[in-house]
Amino acid sequence: MLEKFWEQEAKKLKWFKGWNKVLDWNKPYAKWFVGGKINASYQCLDVHVENGLENKIAIYWENELGEKKEISYKKLYDDVNKFASGLKKLGVKKGDVVILYMPMIPQAVISMLACARIGAIHSVVFSAFSYKSLKDRINDTKAKFLITADYALRRGKNIDLKFVVDLAVHNTTVEKVVLVKRTDKGITLNEGIDVLYQDLIDNAQDFCEPEKLDSNHPLFVLYTSGTTGKPKGIVHSTGGYLTYVNSTFKQAFGDLKNEIYWCTGDIGWITGHSYIVYAPLMQGTSIVIYEGTPDYPDTSIWWKIIQDYKVSVFYTSPTAIRMLRKISSDTIKDFDLSSLKVLGSVGEVINPDVWEWFFEHVGNKKCPIIDTWWQTETGGFMLAPKISYKISELKPGSATYPLDQIDADIVDENGKSVALGEKGFLVIKKPWPGLTQGIWGDKKRYEEIYWSRFKNYYPGDYAIKDTQGYFWLLGRSDETLNISGHRIGTSEIENAAILNSNVAEAAVAAIPDKIRGQNFCLFVVLNNKSEDEELLKKEIIQTLKTEIGSLAKPAKIYFVESLPKTRSGKIMRRLLSALLRKETIGDVSTLQDANSVEKIKLVIR
Ligand code: PRX
Repeated sequence: MLEKFWEQEAKKLKWFKGWNKVLDWNKPYAKWFVGGKINASYQCLDVHVENGLENKIAIYWENELGEKKEISYKKLYDDVNKFASGLKKLGVKKGDVVILYMPMIPQAVISMLACARIGAIHSVVFSAFSYKSLKDRINDTKAKFLITADYALRRGKNIDLKFVVDLAVHNTTVEKVVLVKRTDKGITLNEGIDVLYQDLIDNAQDFCEPEKLDSNHPLFVLYTSGTTGKPKGIVHSTGGYLTYVNSTFKQAFGDLKNEIYWCTGDIGWITGHSYIVYAPLMQGTSIVIYEGTPDYPDTSIWWKIIQDYKVSVFYTSPTAIRMLRKISSDTIKDFDLSSLKVLGSVGEVINPDVWEWFFEHVGNKKCPIIDTWWQTETGGFMLAPKISYKISELKPGSATYPLDQIDADIVDENGKSVALGEKGFLVIKKPWPGLTQGIWGDKKRYEEIYWSRFKNYYPGDYAIKDTQGYFWLLGRSDETLNISGHRIGTSEIENAAILNSNVAEAAVAAIPDKIRGQNFCLFVVLNNKSEDEELLKKEIIQTLKTEIGSLAKPAKIYFVESLPKTRSGKIMRRLLSALLRKETIGDVSTLQDANSVEKIKLVIR
């Protein structure tokens, strides 16, 4: 049944060669459509150009300065072909990793598809990550090529990406940097390394034959945070991944061929890969890409985008909805949002009151909210309402049920299914084509993190199934935070903080945040008492920014004498969070230093 279903779904794509075997399941590794040959760029572009959709708009792009571009499928096809030829000429080969460090501009999509066309493995790094984070990813993939732009726009500021890249590539494996120049301003190119995107395109052949790639050839590596300090490079296949995102996109949102679809994510995250680029373009959807935040140049800009482009499917995150509710509740009524038919949410639990506001004020009570639970590792949606459900079947805050052939369960510590209504660990019991191929260069870690705790796939989330079988996600069951829908590991932050020479030890404590969902405070033990604590706090914030990026900004820093630890030396982060929330805490006698708690209470006060 499982294999039959996915075989039918795979047949909806165009394969150069069919498969000999639907699934080769060597737990925890799944190979799908073994022997099949396919190409993601061909699937997203050539298929439509061959079917007479040349003039259809693939991308409506706009930035916060109001600059606009409309790119047809044919134009996108041409650009991707040229850039793919250019990359080949530069020396990029099938199987090479190409890092992308780019803002939300059409060239970002073109770069992903151009890599896919020639069988290069793209690895997109979110453009707000620091040079150190970028460098770590370069070192982990040993990439020889990097594509970037001179700057990204952010709330009226030009963020100098080239500067970050220059720092990051120094003393690494990177041999060539391709630069998209967005201004006429002069820029110093590093001789022998930097190449202009435009020069590559101008001198490239018009057509680049799409590589006939093995179904299990990696399409991309995308890094995500985990419980240890080192981010994990999540690898996805080509054939299985494409089949999965294509199928789940249709199950959840319906047939979007004739719709205008806007996903507000960034290509630096999995949402951008699966549901800005691959699934929508495979369907021949017209997508909107807006390079900008909801609050700039004014607080109604997102409503204006929906109105101007007549967006019919709007897929965003609870953190963005909470922000929009705060900043533009008054002005939303001045915009015509009647084009909207379907709303979507991703990244974290959508609180019922936020769901209601989204439903009433954005969707005018006529659009279903498709709350999609999934992860970087799952490739695509796992739990989500289907478009075929009636609005009355949705429950605010629940991602409803698993999609087709996803076998989800909730289990206790021992892996035994819990009763309905009881909290437990979410697990997935059967393989699916979007399942990651593993962690780049680290088989053991993949097996340990996801497959050693239970006999099934363990995503690291708590959940409850209610008496009607609806799934309710309850947040992470591991030491990771979810800030504005982005996963970040507590130890990643702590490891970064101790790089500041004044910091002896650091602990992250999660706190609730009205807009970002979650945030964190940092508890720091200093090497020496500081003369100027405020200055030191600023320095630590800067250290975090340099080491990780702007996402890692603590709400507050507390200097403490010691951290609460178990006798085995494990930092009690949950206890710190409880202290911040002024909750009564239980027995602390098992701590190494029970007095530390009282002292921390005083500091917090
Ligand atoms: O904890 C879950 C939460 O985000 C995690 C996955 O993070 P990431 O790989 O960065 O992917 C985010 C975009 C898919 C999950 O383990 N999460 C994601 N979507 C939801 C969610 N929690 C509750 N409801 C959701 N709809």
